[in-house]
Amino acid sequence: MENNERRPVVLSCIQPTSIPTLGNYLGALKNWKAMSDDNDCIFAVADLHALTIHPEPAKLRQQSLEMYAILLAMGLDPEKNIMFIQSHVPAHTQLAWILNCYTQFGEASRMTQFKEKSLKHSDNVNVGLFDYPVLMAADILLYQANFVPVGADQKQHLEICRDIADRFNNLRGETFTLPEPYIGKTGAKVMSLQDPTQKMSKSDVNPKATVSILDTPDVIMKKFKSAVTDSESCVRYAEGKDGINNLMTIYSCCTGLDYDKIESEFAGKGYGDFKAAVAEAVIEELRPVRENFDKYISDKASLMSAAADGAERAGRIANRTLRKVMKKTGLVMPE
Ligand code: TYM
Repeated sequence: MENNERRPVVLSCIQPTSIPTLGNYLGALKNWKAMSDDNDCIFAVADLHALTIHPEPAKLRQQSLEMYAILLAMGLDPEKNIMFIQSHVPAHTQLAWILNCYTQFGEASRMTQFKEKSLKHSDNVNVGLFDYPVLMAADILLYQANFVPVGADQKQHLEICRDIADRFNNLRGETFTLPEPYIGKTGAKVMSLQDPTQKMSKSDVNPKATVSILDTPDVIMKKFKSAVTDSESCVRYAEGKDGINNLMTIYSCCTGLDYDKIESEFAGKGYGDFKAAVAEAVIEELRPVRENFDKYISDKASLMSAAADGAERAGRIANRTLRKVMKKTGLVMPE
């Protein structure tokens, strides 16, 4: 019967390294929300991944709660979806260790993000940073996820996850579902407003380069007004127009209009008008998060209780997979 058919399982996580950017939002979070009606969704705050950059402990604790509050403020329902904090479900680190033993050093060494981050933070190239994709594979495989909504920068991590799962399945018998990345057609790589050849990143030192999803309307307007464009003064999507292409992508994500429609809407108008329109669209798009955030973050007891409930439900699914894996790898099962 159709009603009994299993819905696809969707899983994704976000690091609580700071308030998410417009890039995180358009590349990932907006799709989490869109997918949450028709799928069994599992969303986590990846606090263990955040440890790789040695955050200040009190700050990490606060940011983990803020991230959870942002997910609620976006309208994700913790009863309909399973929403939790990664470190509350120990199966993630347990499975990560087992998967380490099924991951080749060579394949992990090829990860672009590891290479980039090692160059950028050469004083702290820790083993956790190297192992980051394996923990990410554990996050995904524990829940037998079918789809993983992420930005384009995570595609390679999804590929290694599939390779690890496939290797395990071949050696120990069918255990894991092979996940597919879900990468949106637009917004998969939102660029910096100050250097549109670079990805918009939470860690950018130039505050004008990124829009935080809790920025006030005034600040958002100012940041878009100072966005780097080009000297052509014509709103069209074309090679070499990285700044305008990026603004068109952002506008398209927020309004649903395709590039042709955007070009005709702004035909004969200057960049000033276009930048203001993009800023207005972003302000509108982020309005619910901005307006609801304070309510959620100020009620710590409710946040903790929702997170505990999420961890309980996640743990039940995760432990089922973990036990299967323990059995298949020859670990003695606890009574
Ligand atoms: P994080 O916190 O670095 O990023 C969260 C999500 O935001 C996407 N993203 C972007 N999308 C478009 N344009 C940008 N400029 C941009 N910057 C970031 C990222 O692709 C990501 O989807 N490793 C993950 C966290 C994670 C995870 C997982 C994800 C841990 N375990 C399991 C999926 C499944 C990450 O990049 O987080």
